[in-house]
Amino acid sequence: SLNQQYEEKVRPCIDLIDSLRSLGVEKDLALPAIAVIGDQSSGKSSVLEALSGVALPRGSGIVTRCPLELKMKRRKEGEGWYGKISYQDFEEELKDLAGVEKKIREAQNKIAGPGSGISHELISLEIASPDVPDLTLIDLPGITRVAVKGQKGNIENQPYKLAEEVMLGGEWDITVDKEPDPKFITKQKPISLVVVPCNVDIATTEALKMAQEVDPEGERTLGIMTKPDLVDKGYMIVKCRGQKEIKDKVSLTEALEREEAFFSEHAYFKTLYDEGRATVPKLAEKLTLELVDHIKRSLPRLEEQIEKKLKTTQANLDKCGHGPPPDATERIGYLIDRVTAFTQDATSLATGEELEFGG
Ligand code: GDP
Ligand code: NA
Ligand code: MG
Repeated sequence: SLNQQYEEKVRPCIDLIDSLRSLGVEKDLALPAIAVIGDQSSGKSSVLEALSGVALPRGSGIVTRCPLELKMKRRKEGEGWYGKISYQDFEEELKDLAGVEKKIREAQNKIAGPGSGISHELISLEIASPDVPDLTLIDLPGITRVAVKGQKGNIENQPYKLAEEVMLGGEWDITVDKEPDPKFITKQKPISLVVVPCNVDIATTEALKMAQEVDPEGERTLGIMTKPDLVDKGYMIVKCRGQKEIKDKVSLTEALEREEAFFSEHAYFKTLYDEGRATVPKLAEKLTLELVDHIKRSLPRLEEQIEKKLKTTQANLDKCGHGPPPDATERIGYLIDRVTAFTQDATSLATGEELEFGG
């Protein structure tokens, strides 16, 4: 069972780290941590909040303005809750979960000033409770854009620089802040959780680009996709035959049945299925509708083109004049006119004059 696995595999590691911590090893040697990186408002704080059960400041824009180290320690069932916040020279024990968010906001205001300033100074939050996992997580200010090389002290590249330093396990030494925080020395490369929301273009995600730079092999990078309920309306999802199914000669018809079962029963994808945004038949339907829409959109232009063609053809036709009239006497006159016109044309042709087409 999962619990057994935890007791056998996880607990010994955690206990080892705990003993190292109690020996004060952490002062000289950073113990493994997990850092959460992501673009601004990608959902980093929300993920941390969900993992820890601790309400953190979150919202749109720059909300996380200092690195926040969240040290969680799982306690045995029945043991109480313990919390402590510390930063700079300040340290305070917390009574309960309810006030944590406010305390963090206060800390950020003291460190980075009110407004949207960002600082590298660490806020440390320790939580011990039967409800938290044994993890140390670092929440970071969201990345807004790639820093221009050599550009220092620019407010915009601070979050990027900060995250990069943390990811590389180095010492944070941006020149904006006077003193580097001696507490904030990771010395060890953390595992990076890269938060990518489903409602953005993955190709433009700065955090992913950075993760690829600092950990090209992806050995200590874990991607998390957030906001699945906001997945871009322009996306559909399909499941086709895998290599094994092709080898097993699963027919296309059968594959469609399997696909339908896959999505309609899937814990995560069922929503997309219910919205008609999953399966190949839905894709075909959507494409047909798109095509019809496209045709409808191009109809006015087609009409325009036809009218233009009609006009030139009509003009050419008009130049040819009318056919012979039904009345026999009028026909004689008509014939004479044609012959005269023809003779004139023939004469013009012979003398090199320009022809008046159809006379
Ligand atoms: P951060 O800037 O990366 O720390 O992002 P936050 O955790 O502050 O989240 C930014 C906004 O996205 C907040 O308003 C969250 O409530 C919202 N958000 C986070 N996760 C989800 C999700 O799964 N679905 C939706 N609809 N909104 C989310
Ligand atoms: Na935010
Ligand atoms: Mg945040």
